[in-house]
Amino acid sequence: MFHMFVLFCLCWCRLTGVFGDSLSVMEGDSVTLNTNLTEIHKDDEILWTFGAENSLIAEIIGGSFSTSDVPDRRFRDRLKLDDQTGSLTITNIRPEHAGVYQLEIRGAKLSANTFNVSVYARLPIPVISKDCSSSSSSNCSLVCSAVNVGHVTLSWYKGNSLLSSISVSDLSISLSLPLEVEDQDKNTYSCVLNNPISNQTQHLDITHLCHTCPDSVHCCGPTETVIRLVLSALVGVATAAVLLYDIRSTSCLKKKTEQIS
Ligand SMILES: *[C@@H]1O[C@H](CO)[C@@H](O)[C@H](O)[C@H]1NC(C)=O
Ligand SMILES: *[C@@H]1O[C@H](CO)[C@@H](O)[C@H](O)[C@H]1NC(C)=O
Ligand SMILES: *[C@@H]1O[C@H](CO)[C@@H](O)[C@H](O)[C@H]1NC(C)=O
Repeated sequence: MFHMFVLFCLCWCRLTGVFGDSLSVMEGDSVTLNTNLTEIHKDDEILWTFGAENSLIAEIIGGSFSTSDVPDRRFRDRLKLDDQTGSLTITNIRPEHAGVYQLEIRGAKLSANTFNVSVYARLPIPVISKDCSSSSSSNCSLVCSAVNVGHVTLSWYKGNSLLSSISVSDLSISLSLPLEVEDQDKNTYSCVLNNPISNQTQHLDITHLCHTCPDSVHCCGPTETVIRLVLSALVGVATAAVLLYDIRSTSCLKKKTEQIS
């Protein structure tokens, strides 16, 4: 009767994943899927399978341990079985190792478990830059951005309070979030990029970012810079011409004066 129940549960739990563990891992880290056994008995049979196809990736039968790979070889050199507990470790995990792993233990007791493994990328530090096109004379328009990110949220904080945020679930896109502050603002602002398991913060330095351009109208567009360079060159030429004319006319005047005298 008990065995009937366990068998029923094995099938049913498999379908619903009801007893499943959810594990979140950072790309490049290792994860261990635990059997919760303290030791393996000689007649225990332990099977580890992966994915919708239930591909066998590791087994312990009659005291002998073996790991195998799926057809695309994504687990090559990454699987380790603990010889005491039968727990499975996946090293140097990559996004392609995300998915459902199943454990089945057949021995004095039958048991099973599922592990839903999610793999998250390492996050870059977000970048804050000044948006010159929309900054006014007393206000500073800023943009915080992160490139090639997926499953993340990007947020602006003023002190500890959330001002705004934007989330993406796509795999890999670029995100940006604007913020407008007054040049004289003395609050602390930060931009935070986070996924469910980690975050990266960039602090805003208003003095450095917002006061860099002395006159904010012509602050940093390439066209303005070129125009300014040309203008100062023209002014330089004009000054030289005037000086030259002065010198000539003075010497001319001198000559005339000499002639007269
Ligand atoms: C595994 O976890 C992810 C993220 O939490 C979820 O989206 C997905 O539906 C889960 N898969 C299963 C089979 O439970
Ligand atoms: C300057 O920014 C403040 C908020 O920081 C906003 O209320 C105000 O309208 C802005 N002024 C201009 C001229 O954009
Ligand atoms: C960022 O992660 C740290 C732990 O690494 C946590 O203490 C902090 O609250 C997180 N910050 C945000 C804004 O999520």
